[in-house]
Amino acid sequence: MGNNKNPEIPYIKLKKKDGQYFINFIKSNLESIPFINHKFKTLHENDYILFPIFQNQVLIDVIIKKLDRQINLEIISQRGKLNKNYKYRTLQEALEGTSEDKIPEKYLELIPKSYDIIGHIAIIEFDKIDKEFNKYKEDISKAILSVNKNIKTVYEKRGQIKGKYRLRELVFLYGEDKSETIHKENNCNFKLDIKKTYFSPRLVFERRRIASSEIKENELIVDMFAGVGTFSIQIAKNKNVKIFAFDVNPNAYRYMKDNIKLNKLKGEIIPNNIDIKVLLDPKNQLGKSLYNKVDRIIMNLPENSISFINIACFLMKESGGILHFYQFSEKPNPIEKTLKNIEEELNSLNWEINSIITSKVVKHYSPKSELIVVDLEIKPSK
Ligand SMILES: C[S@@+](CC[C@H](N)C(=O)[O-])C[C@H]1O[C@@H](n2cnc3c(N)ncnc32)[C@H](O)[C@@H]1O
Repeated sequence: MGNNKNPEIPYIKLKKKDGQYFINFIKSNLESIPFINHKFKTLHENDYILFPIFQNQVLIDVIIKKLDRQINLEIISQRGKLNKNYKYRTLQEALEGTSEDKIPEKYLELIPKSYDIIGHIAIIEFDKIDKEFNKYKEDISKAILSVNKNIKTVYEKRGQIKGKYRLRELVFLYGEDKSETIHKENNCNFKLDIKKTYFSPRLVFERRRIASSEIKENELIVDMFAGVGTFSIQIAKNKNVKIFAFDVNPNAYRYMKDNIKLNKLKGEIIPNNIDIKVLLDPKNQLGKSLYNKVDRIIMNLPENSISFINIACFLMKESGGILHFYQFSEKPNPIEKTLKNIEEELNSLNWEINSIITSKVVKHYSPKSELIVVDLEIKPSK
């Protein structure tokens, strides 16, 4: 097993009296080009100072050529001492500094460049890995912990989000096996269990966009697929509105109730643990009371929102209202496809698009499709 923690690295060795001159020279000549390797400690040996440098031969040659006439220096190689206060900037960098076994070159490109962070949990996804790669997953997890001091747990994503509750299989990799956490987003706190409830930190900007859009005082809003209350809570945080928030998953409902208490809200949220379809049942009292009363509806069930448009038309005010509609849509022209799809569905229910407020790609979803959002003003057709 190689001692990768204290590898041999190049040092530039010069007299202590020339140290400041050298530092000034580097600062004024190299600006943002990395030359000194701050991951390792600067060493002091009798009258000499040894600066750890990156193994960049071209740059080393240039520096020596420029400085040689002014000060005496030499390049030596010796074991580097890790600088404990150094903050790794990337996973790759942390891996070099923390892993016992060096990860073979052929695997380096399989190390993900990014991962999701939800509260104290990191969720990582590996692509096209083989069995042998498995033994490096722990090193990669340790590196994640060393880059982010708030992370205590690493899970691995397996497979697609599926089922009615929109959950994904997660495999514990490292740290504390605790899937309940509190995630901070846009000044709100969300308690959730990543194994039992849907949550995607990648929608952070989308939730901020909707929460800061032109929502009027006292609007009546329905969040059809509310999860742990992410959209509803961010809207009600600063807006005096009334939101009916639905989720069929009992765990999402339980956390949504906790989150309503956890956040100081200006508006009111009424959580409901029912299948939104139940509102259409003529015997359902809540359905009756919301019929044609709602100003704004959020539909964030991208794989299937389209089959709930009839409920949106049932709830929306007859004078018209705003729909925030999310859908996975195939390339090419995914936005146009979503607009066509929803227009046809509305028309079949004698409703129509009055105006398109926004239509855009939220994020890349798969090689073939994108997550699309359209904000529409809709009204019954005459
Ligand atoms: C994609 S998640 C979105 C959650 C939340 N809006 C967010 O962004 O964090 C969809 C949610 O809809 C819920 N759901 C699915 N079908 C439903 C239905 N028929 N009625 C109510 N909720 C449903 C799932 O349990 C899941 O929590």
